[in-house]
Amino acid sequence: REYNVAILGATGAVGMRMVRQLENSTVPVKNLKLLASSRSAGTKIEFKGEEIEVEETTPDSFEGVDIVLASAGGSTSKKFLPEAVKRGAVCIDNTSAYRMDPDVPLVVPEVNVDQLANHRGIIANPNCSTIQMVVALQPVFEKFGLSQIVVSTYQAASGAGQSALNEFYGQAQDYLDGKEMSADILPTKGDKKHYPLAFNLLPQIDVFEEDGSTHEEWKMVHETKKIMLNDMNATGIKVNATCVRVPVAISHGESVYFEVEDKSATKEDIQRVIDQFDGAVLQDDPDHQVYPQPITAEGKRSTFVGRIRADQENPGCFNMWVVADNLLKGAAWNTVQNAEELVKRDLVRVPEDYYRG
Ligand code: A2P
Repeated sequence: REYNVAILGATGAVGMRMVRQLENSTVPVKNLKLLASSRSAGTKIEFKGEEIEVEETTPDSFEGVDIVLASAGGSTSKKFLPEAVKRGAVCIDNTSAYRMDPDVPLVVPEVNVDQLANHRGIIANPNCSTIQMVVALQPVFEKFGLSQIVVSTYQAASGAGQSALNEFYGQAQDYLDGKEMSADILPTKGDKKHYPLAFNLLPQIDVFEEDGSTHEEWKMVHETKKIMLNDMNATGIKVNATCVRVPVAISHGESVYFEVEDKSATKEDIQRVIDQFDGAVLQDDPDHQVYPQPITAEGKRSTFVGRIRADQENPGCFNMWVVADNLLKGAAWNTVQNAEELVKRDLVRVPEDYYRG
């Protein structure tokens, strides 16, 4: 069977990569539709040697479509995905719109691919920083149990979209030219004040919660629980996050401190289980200065792990450093990978009790 696929937000930083990831995937594509807003309708994007014209999105755009890959912002997903599901399309959504909905599986294939079978038309792709962390921790969890995670992120500008990335480049240029830097987007479109990212660090990603956490930190806590324990409020693993935007274009870094239940686990054990896990690549050789870096992770589908150390003062506790391309494993590749798994499992169909929004 071949599938009619639509990419919603095809002109964005993630959408453009969805086109390339789909081109190099096992999903048999009969026809590809590229959807965006009226702003970019008429733009042409190449897919498998053919030029495809971008169309403005309307509910009827999804007529005859089997699979939708969406990355056009939460409100666009809320508006169009129920329309797509109603027309029989299975949607994999990269926005945060449906992630916490109990009727929507939140899937990182290496960790909880079985959840795909429970879909009712919509599957959610987790936040970029959550995805790479759970890929690195799942093999540890499976083998030694996990009681606690403390993570600090070093997140790239592209995580806030193409316009934020362009703003960051402009700031760097202005700084080097001795001009004043301007800021209209970062730290987040949704807040009142804006600060430059170039030659700076911004300890705010997304808006603030009442308890003083940012929404990005909230997402890392609750998405991790939903993916690893199948319950967004599970208490089996304690999770604590601090999220920081850094002046890097692509690929997020994370300092992850964790405690395992099996206190006999050694550093070598942790290295071995991560090395053997699909989707994770061990780059951990201090003698030869080998460790993951954003510029070497860019363009790759894997999650890279290094700097694994045992905390000498706390038995069963470890540090590690995790890097992945936030636009690929953190977004476009994880979405296309979910599509591949749906196809493999013959799950590209909307059930009768489909999601009505
Ligand atoms: P457009 O190019 O027409 O603005 P990014 O995350 O890099 O900022 O990209 C956002 C993507 O979402 C773009 O492809 C953008 O299309 C698309 N988009 C934004 N708003 C809408 C909308 N209301 N309907 C459809 N697509 C939208």
